[in-house]
Amino acid sequence: MSKLSLDKILQSQGFGTRKYCRELIEDGEVSIAGETVRGYKQALETEGLRFHIFDEDWEYRAHVYIALNKPANFECSRKPSHHPGVLTLLPEQFSWRDVQPVGRLDHDTTGMLLMSDDGPFIHAQSSPKRHIPKVYQASTAEAVTPELVNTLLAGVQLHDEPAPLAAQTCRALDTHRIEIILEQGKYHQVKRMLAAAGNHCAALQRTAIGKLTLESLQLQEGEWCYLTPEQLALLVPTA
Ligand code: URA
Repeated sequence: MSKLSLDKILQSQGFGTRKYCRELIEDGEVSIAGETVRGYKQALETEGLRFHIFDEDWEYRAHVYIALNKPANFECSRKPSHHPGVLTLLPEQFSWRDVQPVGRLDHDTTGMLLMSDDGPFIHAQSSPKRHIPKVYQASTAEAVTPELVNTLLAGVQLHDEPAPLAAQTCRALDTHRIEIILEQGKYHQVKRMLAAAGNHCAALQRTAIGKLTLESLQLQEGEWCYLTPEQLALLVPTA
């Protein structure tokens, strides 16, 4: 339980500077339980607090945990150079509260991208020590053969890597599609592993992280959702 004044609450939720949030309140833009609130000084209980602003209902969240079904041609970088950034797919409040992608997908990779403003969560999810499996489905230029699967399982040597990298598991999905599960998240890892194994990645989608599947989220490309505590629990690696 923690109490905060309404201007601090709005600021923490990404509605702008404290001064701007005070102006919003004084201008009658904020209501709680159907009543316009014009005073910002009174401390309010944040837990479970719902408020209405700019014709939208919001719920106070100490942190946000989001899954986005990333479309192609969006960059995960904070300073995108050739394509729009993934943050442009989310409400602008999330940029103000410093929501960031958890790891990165290439601009042409689609699928599940986690995003959050919780630093320790981002760090834990990105840490190679946690061995969180990431599931990818790749379309390949050349046919998927048993040799390709075996090579990826045995490990391939990538330029600049000290040791060969292997898929945790890997299986053919059809003649030109393969599922690869990785525990590491090296730069362009799937594409480089496929190239090192003599094939070429024509399209790539991340379909799951840990036990949380993209399918279960039922998001169209470009859509996002808040993750529930139950869904967050599925991201934790199993022993
Ligand atoms: N591996 C890649 O090559 N690209 C991605 O976006 C993710 C994993």
